[in-house]
Amino acid sequence: MSKQNSKKPALPGSTVTMGLDIGYGVVKAVTADQVVMFPSVMGHAREIKFQQEEMARRHPGDQMTDEDGDWFVGDLALAQLPPGELLRLRGRTANESTMGNAFRLRLAKVAIGKVMQGMWNRDIVHIRIATGLPTDHMRDAAQLKASLIGQHLIKTDTAELIANVSEVMVMPQPYGTIYANTLMESGEINRQHTYRRTGVCDVGTYTVDLALDDEGEFVDAESGSVESGVYTAQERISAALERDYREKMPFKIVEEVLRTGIFHANGQPVDYREIVEEALAPLRSATLNLMSEKWQRGTTVDVVYLSGGGAELVVKDVREAYPQTALVQDAQLANARGYLNYARFIARQS
Ligand SMILES: Nc1ncnc2c1ncn2[C@@H]1O[C@H](COP(=O)(O)OP(=O)(O)OP(=O)(O)O)[C@@H](O)[C@H]1O
Ligand SMILES: [Mg+2]
Repeated sequence: MSKQNSKKPALPGSTVTMGLDIGYGVVKAVTADQVVMFPSVMGHAREIKFQQEEMARRHPGDQMTDEDGDWFVGDLALAQLPPGELLRLRGRTANESTMGNAFRLRLAKVAIGKVMQGMWNRDIVHIRIATGLPTDHMRDAAQLKASLIGQHLIKTDTAELIANVSEVMVMPQPYGTIYANTLMESGEINRQHTYRRTGVCDVGTYTVDLALDDEGEFVDAESGSVESGVYTAQERISAALERDYREKMPFKIVEEVLRTGIFHANGQPVDYREIVEEALAPLRSATLNLMSEKWQRGTTVDVVYLSGGGAELVVKDVREAYPQTALVQDAQLANARGYLNYARFIARQS
């Protein structure tokens, strides 16, 4: 699930602007010419007795060191660490309020290390970061800003640099999707976007977030989130596979069955579409319930932008109930792209 396109690292001393969406399931970071994605999971590194080079080649940038020690992050952590040693930002084992921002800082450092792959010698690069917090966590915005601002040593298997984070902008997460549509990549205002009341439905891993913007004003009463997300479907598919094949399937297999409806047993394709449809029912009804709770039949909502990794999984049902729904292109990256647009909009003001 990790994605990263390699290119020449930024020049020492240059300034890089980054849109960073730290989700409970997946971290997404976009810059002018890079897209980085990796699972929001980590654990303390363990000594690997064989194939170290192969491991680093398969999972570039997933090994980082900071003042708390050596870490395996993302796909490397999922591949090499037992479930009990995996730390997540959310879920049963996490204690978000205490470790939230420290955890987000470590994920941000890994994202910077991947974007700056190939930069060594502790060269300095200046970074402007635009990011978001779940709407109901915005009270932690100042703290997140304080932990991200400043100079950070980025020490990974693919880079060793000093990141001087010179500017941090924090907004409610769904505003990323709004700015992905109301602003251009240049940071200019998108004159095509003439809607007055704009709704966002962001279907994530653990939460579905709803936000309504009325001509630039965030309307709290018509915004909110529900504890549901793609993980509800992933869990049900995992349970069905375990029931049918008496073994716990790796996360990657469960994801594939969710996306394709096909499970390969002993190399033979097995049709799982019906089970996938059943597994998606809770997510679809939770999304529609939240929308009717906040927007009733949506008569006064001019457009609904559907984003997040789960967007395609609910679009049919949502569009039936709210015909003004638009599925955002590359939906999982919408927030991060919008954050980048916003950072450029701000730069144009000064
Ligand atoms: N096309 C797709 N079909 C099915 N699932 C997808 C697709 N694209 C992404 N996903 C899955 O959707 C899930 C949610 O992705 P997303 O990155 O939006 O979550 P998140 O931002 O980490 O979660 P949250 O918003 O709850 O913090 C991930 O588990 C991802 O693997
Ligand atoms: Mg998200």
